[in-house]
Amino acid sequence: MDVDAVRTAAKYIKDSRNLVVFTGAGMSADSGIPTFRGADGLWSKFRPEELATLDAFLKDPVLVWKWYLWRISKLKGVKPHRGYKVLSRWYREGILKHVITQNVDGLFIRSGIEEVVELHGNILRAKCMSCRYKTSIDSLDKSSLPILCPRCYGLMRPDVVWFGEPLDESIVEAAYRYARESDVMLVIGTSGVVYPAAYIPFIAKESGAKIIEVNIEESAITSISDVFIGLKAADALPLIDKYLKKV
Ligand code: OAD
Repeated sequence: MDVDAVRTAAKYIKDSRNLVVFTGAGMSADSGIPTFRGADGLWSKFRPEELATLDAFLKDPVLVWKWYLWRISKLKGVKPHRGYKVLSRWYREGILKHVITQNVDGLFIRSGIEEVVELHGNILRAKCMSCRYKTSIDSLDKSSLPILCPRCYGLMRPDVVWFGEPLDESIVEAAYRYARESDVMLVIGTSGVVYPAAYIPFIAKESGAKIIEVNIEESAITSISDVFIGLKAADALPLIDKYLKKV
């Protein structure tokens, strides 16, 4: 373990006025949710073009819904790990100002950070393709698939961003603004290869922020990181927290 890196990260965070966290799937890996890339990633077992595109959904909405309901069922037994607890306490204490995530699992909300910027949507919500009604998956009748809108009987789809789809403009604007205004950005568990999300650490860096990266391996963000902590998120965050009291 690189104690110097952890100590430097703690010092940056202690001295920060506007700490922003940006996460990817690696943040939730320690809660038991698979990442996308890598040997055990979802995209090594499933083909995104068959399950995570609008074309795939229109071709076979039952298959796509089955896949999403399977992923949702896996989330039921999962809890935010101790790294989430650290971030949620920093947020309550005012140390952490904003969280931007690519994750759709809703774990930040469950850990008590309600105002999270969810760039790629939330798997626990659905939206109607006809009348745009949005609601939680829990509230919908899933006894026969595909799920239909309780208001207009249109086709409901998962409220997530699929490959080839644009991100919600107001959500991207908020994320870019938080990145520009940050003085320290803590980047946790992302490969940094999916755009426009991957611009976020670069925007922060260009605006003068220090970049702290937590990842079990180097990523496309590492070249701009001021500090790299090569640990799992669930180990790194409590450790930084411990050093925060010492620096
Ligand atoms: P990836 O699966 O591409 O990358 C996960 C990253 O987390 C990798 O860099 C891993 O090294 C790292 N990692 C794995 N376990 C970790 C742990 N325990 N602690 C810390 N880091 C760990 O996931 P994302 O970067 O989130 O998009 O992928 C970006 C987007 O691609 C996703 O939001 C999704 C996907 O297709 C959409 O669904 C639109």
